[in-house]
Amino acid sequence: MRFSSRTGWPLDPNRLSELVRDRRERGVPILDLTESNPTRCGFTIDAEEILAPLGDRRALTYQPDPRGLLTAREAVAQYYSERGIQLNPDQIFLTTSTSEAYSFVFRLLANPGDSILAPQPSYPLFDFLGGLNDVQILPYPLVYDGGWQVDLDALASRRESRCRAVLVVHPNNPTGSYVHERELARMVEICCRSQAALIADEVFADYAFTADPDRVRSHAQTSAALTFTLSGLSKILALPQMKLAWIVVNGPPELQKNAQARLEVIADTYLSVSAPVALATPRWLAQRRAIQSQILERVQSNLRKLDELLARGLPAQAALPVSRLKVEGGWYTILRVPSTRSDEDWAAELLTQESVLVHPGHFYDFPSEGFLVLSLLPPPGSFEEALRRVISRICAQS
Ligand SMILES: Cc1ncc(COP(=O)(O)O)c(C=O)c1O
Repeated sequence: MRFSSRTGWPLDPNRLSELVRDRRERGVPILDLTESNPTRCGFTIDAEEILAPLGDRRALTYQPDPRGLLTAREAVAQYYSERGIQLNPDQIFLTTSTSEAYSFVFRLLANPGDSILAPQPSYPLFDFLGGLNDVQILPYPLVYDGGWQVDLDALASRRESRCRAVLVVHPNNPTGSYVHERELARMVEICCRSQAALIADEVFADYAFTADPDRVRSHAQTSAALTFTLSGLSKILALPQMKLAWIVVNGPPELQKNAQARLEVIADTYLSVSAPVALATPRWLAQRRAIQSQILERVQSNLRKLDELLARGLPAQAALPVSRLKVEGGWYTILRVPSTRSDEDWAAELLTQESVLVHPGHFYDFPSEGFLVLSLLPPPGSFEEALRRVISRICAQS
């Protein structure tokens, strides 16, 4: 039996996952600072309001529509309208997840071996999504200088004849950095010059910590280049299990029309969104602020706690060997730690000696050592206890 080469992944567990498995098997508790499943972080949801809409009797009739049921697309258009962006429901295609949306867009734009430029560091799933769709994901750097920004010159020089799209994550996971108007203008220019599309992942867009007029409001209003804006309920409602996401198509009119016609065939081939979920979407989206306010409160108060612990320091040390990078929004924060050892060694030591799990930077493709990534979602008590252990261990070892 032979399998496709695109599935030839190294499947052996890595050192960190083996250590985690070993501790779990022995029943040793772990303070998990990688927890990013919002349904396990103690937020209050109105169960009745989430589950009752799934009983809509209209779901008993099959009404296939390649773009997804109109009522759900109108609710998505309403979501954007509340953010000051007017969309026609025809521009919106529903999918079961953002991951599926990526696959549709990659299939629409790229032939086998074509490439898509993606930020580095960023979301680890891109390489898998690229591989599964026979597309090469090529990194372009984000650089940190008191704040993250796109290295636009590096991005421009990365462009090559087989590049089909530039991908942005707004705000990026895990850097929490948004795309700014100046960066977007240059990216659109790069895309137009090379006949490449722009793909914008906005799943965390509602989780900004402060307002910033220079920040792009949404790529769903970018029309100078063919643009695909992706988002969905996994972060907007913190309900990844409900499986609803979407693609918004924008661009120069003729290009947009062609893209939509082709995307319609791809979507029609799968017809993947379930009717009960689509019918529940208008009521669900209307309640998003109830969960979003809890999450924003949690991530910001955890961030304040982190700053407080870092500011307090240790009596014997003038400056701590650990600090955090600036973050504008999202669910994560990044610690700068000494690169005297690898990030994976730090993560292994924190797990075995302090029972705290963190992600080493290389998980998100940081180009150098010296970074640990933490989720800001865990409940405040365990977050604080885990951080105390992380900071004192790094101080003691530096
Ligand atoms: C940047 C980013 N995009 C997309 C996703 C996945 O979204 P979905 O559950 O809709 O596939 C995630 C999940 O963490 C993410 O971090």
